[in-house]
Amino acid sequence: MKKEVELHKAKWLVEPGCVVLVTSGSMDNPNVMTFSWQTPVNSADPCLIVLAISHLRYSYELIKQNKELVINVPGAELLDQIHFAGCVTGRGIYKFKEAGLTAIAAGVVEPPLVKECAAHLECRVAETFEMQSHDLLVCEVVRAVAEADFFDGEWIPEKFQTLHYLGANKYGLMTRMVEAHRKK
Ligand SMILES: Cc1cc2nc3c(=O)[nH]c(=O)nc-3n(C[C@H](O)[C@H](O)[C@H](O)COP(=O)(O)O)c2cc1C
Repeated sequence: MKKEVELHKAKWLVEPGCVVLVTSGSMDNPNVMTFSWQTPVNSADPCLIVLAISHLRYSYELIKQNKELVINVPGAELLDQIHFAGCVTGRGIYKFKEAGLTAIAAGVVEPPLVKECAAHLECRVAETFEMQSHDLLVCEVVRAVAEADFFDGEWIPEKFQTLHYLGANKYGLMTRMVEAHRKK
């Protein structure tokens, strides 16, 4: 069961650089693509997340059409689907079906959610910065939901861990949480 996440806490759904699945297009013509070059860049409401996207991506063509996307946060059980969505373009194929993922309607934006993911951040592109191989999309989160059992303002590491990309077909998971204490 997923619950609404207050927008000033939505930044905790995506640690900088964790692997996410970004959906674009609409329910009639959806696409899904894997991302690891992402980071939150605002500490309060509005929650702003920057994505670095290559000009070559079919997803970028779709994002330019309605300036909306959804950042979906997958767990390790989706590893093969994640890798597929990051290696194969959706140009000319229905990538959701080929990857074995399910598109369901979002709350307020046109692109669908990936049902199998633990959290979803529905976004509108607020600004685009043209760079070199990749452009930077500044995305404003307009709605966020997360699996109630896994997220209580932060991910509960015993229950859910984000994935990090290590290159080639290798990914890492945090195996042990350590807590810092401040000196008085
Ligand atoms: C783990 C992983 C992370 C990736 N991160 C990014 C990224 O941050 N930005 C990007 O433009 N492409 C990234 N890619 C590549 C795209 O996901 C890939 O080119 C995908 O096939 C594009 O799909 P599309 O053409 O359907 O949009 C990544 C791929 C993998 C496997």
